Amino acid sequence: MKSFVCRSPGYEKTLDLGARFAGSLRKGDIVCLFGDLGAGKTAFVKGLAKGLGLDPVKVHSPTFTLMNIYNGKLPLYHFDLYRINAVDLFGLGYEEFFYGKGIAAVEWSEKLEGLTPESFWRVELKHAGEDERRVNISFHGQGLAERWQKLKDHFA
Ligand SMILES: Nc1ncnc2c1ncn2[C@@H]1O[C@H](COP(=O)(O)OP(=O)(O)O)[C@@H](O)[C@H]1O
Ligand SMILES: [Mg+2]
Repeated sequence: MKSFVCRSPGYEKTLDLGARFAGSLRKGDIVCLFGDLGAGKTAFVKGLAKGLGLDPVKVHSPTFTLMNIYNGKLPLYHFDLYRINAVDLFGLGYEEFFYGKGIAAVEWSEKLEGLTPESFWRVELKHAGEDERRVNISFHGQGLAERWQKLKDHFA
């Protein structure tokens, strides 16, 4: 699997990485986020929102709903599977949001299991000290290789 790693020395940098990453996203893209509690998944999604012209302060993981929708340059559908399971997404008609007119960002993507899309961006955040994080960016499936290569050159 091709991947590259960015260092984030602090919260603001993770926000910035997300915002820059958002510039490469297109409708129908799915960003699957991986990483422990506090690794910065939500921070990265706030960055995505920022990159789509939204106020990152408005971004919070959905807690009483299965998904939050933020309407920026493209709609951003924010999922967090921490407290729910993939089966809960069926009732929501998740396909409309995964393969629709916006971008889906999914925290705790390992819980997608059978609903894991064929093609997706993979963003894994790892603790590397109190405020230090490693952000690993890769992709799965068809159609993203060219944009991934551009991202890699751009982030390097
Ligand atoms: N480099 C960093 N990137 C992201 N968050 C950081 C960083 N350094 C410290 N933090 C802190 O870590 C926490 C990350 O929280 P959050 O984004 O909600 O994580 P997750 O969604 O992965 O559980 C926040 O309290 C944030 O201020
Ligand atoms: Mg979170």
